[in-house]
Amino acid sequence: MASVPREKPRAGGKTARLPLAPALAPSILTADFGHLADEIAAAEAGGAKLFHLDVMDGHFVPNMTIGPLVVRAIDKLTDLPLDVHLMIERPDLYIEAFARAGADLISVHQEAAPHLHRTVQLIRDCGASPGVALNPATPIGVLEEIFGDLDFVLLMSVDPGFGGQRFIAPVMKKVRALRARLEESGAKAKIEVDGGVGPDNIVALVENGADILVAGSAVFDGRDPRGRARALADLLERARRR
Ligand code: DX5
Ligand code: ZN
Repeated sequence: MASVPREKPRAGGKTARLPLAPALAPSILTADFGHLADEIAAAEAGGAKLFHLDVMDGHFVPNMTIGPLVVRAIDKLTDLPLDVHLMIERPDLYIEAFARAGADLISVHQEAAPHLHRTVQLIRDCGASPGVALNPATPIGVLEEIFGDLDFVLLMSVDPGFGGQRFIAPVMKKVRALRARLEESGAKAKIEVDGGVGPDNIVALVENGADILVAGSAVFDGRDPRGRARALADLLERARRR
């Protein structure tokens, strides 16, 4: 299958784009949806490198959020890559719709996708970068056979479903272990960490091997998203130089 057409061509005529690590990916889950254009512009001005969009179906997780319609609207607001995190059952049914809407990175949950080679290939065929997400209690070994096919692994550091939860501390060691396993296997997959990420743990996450840092409430909590994104982006910039 050829790449599906997007409404807006990707910058530089490229297909999927992964940002240079370490990259700040604000999650809009806690943003003000009545002023999404302003929120996105502010986070972008503060140093966001991509936007993380949380898709929830009320089945895989006990919450419902956005679909392709809103992804398409956000795609018109920014040239940064859109990182679509599918917290949904039967993700294969919706991957093409999200790719058409403008998703550059698409992740599915291992816990919701039993045929991962097929699903990952479908994401790639749609012209997006494939990733697989793991809940905090799911061991990294379940991805061993497919490391080489992934552009990124998303380690959840909270149980998915809601913004503003507390970082589950043992995930820090899981990041380090995954980095080591990827290096041993020669796989190039990047590591994304999502949930409870903020100024207190973002540098340690990078030091342990994280490449993409998702931050929801640490950026969007109603106060100065530009300044809050800038503070996190500055921490990442310093962590990169070490
Ligand atoms: C949780 C979502 C996260 C969430 C992160 O299910 O996957 O992306 O928005 O929000 P914070 O950073 O507030 O934990
Ligand atoms: Zn997420």
